[in-house]
Amino acid sequence: MSVATKATTTRRGSVSLRGLTKEYAGARAVDGIDVDIPAGEFFTLLGPSGCGKTTTLMMLAGFVQPSGGDVLIDGRDVANVPPTHRDIGMVFQNYALFPHLTVFQNLAFPLEMRRLRRPEIARRVSEALKLVRLEQWADSYPGQLSGGQQQRVAVARAVVFNPPVLLMDEPLGALDRKLRLQLQLQIRSLQRELGLTVVYVTHDQDEAMSMSDRVAIMRQGKIEQVGTPTELYETPVSVFVADFLGDNNTIPARIVDDRHVRVGDVVLSVPTHGLAEGTDGVVLVRPERIQISDRPATFSGVVHEAVYLGSTSQYEVDVPGAGRLRCSVSHSGSHTVWEPGRRVGVELPAGSVRVMPRSEKE
Ligand SMILES: Nc1ncnc2c1ncn2[C@@H]1O[C@H](COP(=O)(O)OP(=O)(O)OP(=O)(O)O)[C@@H](O)[C@H]1O
Ligand SMILES: [Mg+2]
Repeated sequence: MSVATKATTTRRGSVSLRGLTKEYAGARAVDGIDVDIPAGEFFTLLGPSGCGKTTTLMMLAGFVQPSGGDVLIDGRDVANVPPTHRDIGMVFQNYALFPHLTVFQNLAFPLEMRRLRRPEIARRVSEALKLVRLEQWADSYPGQLSGGQQQRVAVARAVVFNPPVLLMDEPLGALDRKLRLQLQLQIRSLQRELGLTVVYVTHDQDEAMSMSDRVAIMRQGKIEQVGTPTELYETPVSVFVADFLGDNNTIPARIVDDRHVRVGDVVLSVPTHGLAEGTDGVVLVRPERIQISDRPATFSGVVHEAVYLGSTSQYEVDVPGAGRLRCSVSHSGSHTVWEPGRRVGVELPAGSVRVMPRSEKE
């Protein structure tokens, strides 16, 4: 009884994908995706071109028929629910506004389809336009608006009928960087304000990191790792994930035992996650986590290249046994730039180092 009561009062818009698969001519575009997205979450699919992001979104929306697996919205299997009845808003990269309709008419369209009455339509359209701050443009045609404004209209149209779930496929891909950053903030605050579940697709890692509650890194139709931006950045499960999110040094290493690896002549104390003793591995470390100094340290290296960028300096340091490492030093007071040829001490702090099998890279 209490469970049933709870179910009716829970926020709408949870999405579950169970073993979701799509094959095209025998090739798996999407290969068994399992994920639970709670209502109100900003969830992003991030991955390289062709990894199956759009196909996943299209199956969620109901425009593409899965070859296997299920889509559940609020716990209900929607296999037999057509797109128009799934109560999902959508925004694509190329606006897809009706050019011959005014902004007002564009927004009214989904409401007319749902047979709302005129006064209600007018009220909802003006509310949605207010959300994206385009009240003044109700009577304009899309062609009279800038790209960023058109995309805000598309967002308003996607939420005007009050769907609990909003799908967005590279919505900002066609906009310049400054506009993209502005719209990222606007979309995020709109999502919070309306309590929407957003499933967002991008191949821009900064966008994914800055907007999302959780991100799924996709590779060849599969989810390689799901987590918060911090989890993915700090504890990637593979070289692919680490490389996809930010810069990264990949240093050849030999597994000594379950707590030690050898890099050149140096043995580092780090967990090796059950990798077999004596096998080849790699040590991953972010450029900003490497510490370089004038003092003797675990490793000794020689500066190969130094670039001063104001708030940071970027170095390439040749370290025998470890190779050429990229290091980023951030400046909080004054900082002397170490010139090429300078000998420096190099530290790989234990908490910033991850060990993985070498074959991961391929
Ligand atoms: N209608 C289709 N017929 C055949 N193959 C398809 C079809 N749609 C997608 N594919 C294939 O499925 C794979 C995944 O495509 P999808 O469009 O989902 O990738 P994506 O991650 O969205 O890529 P992008 O970042 O370039 O948009 C690709 O190899 C693509 O060629
Ligand atoms: Mg795509």
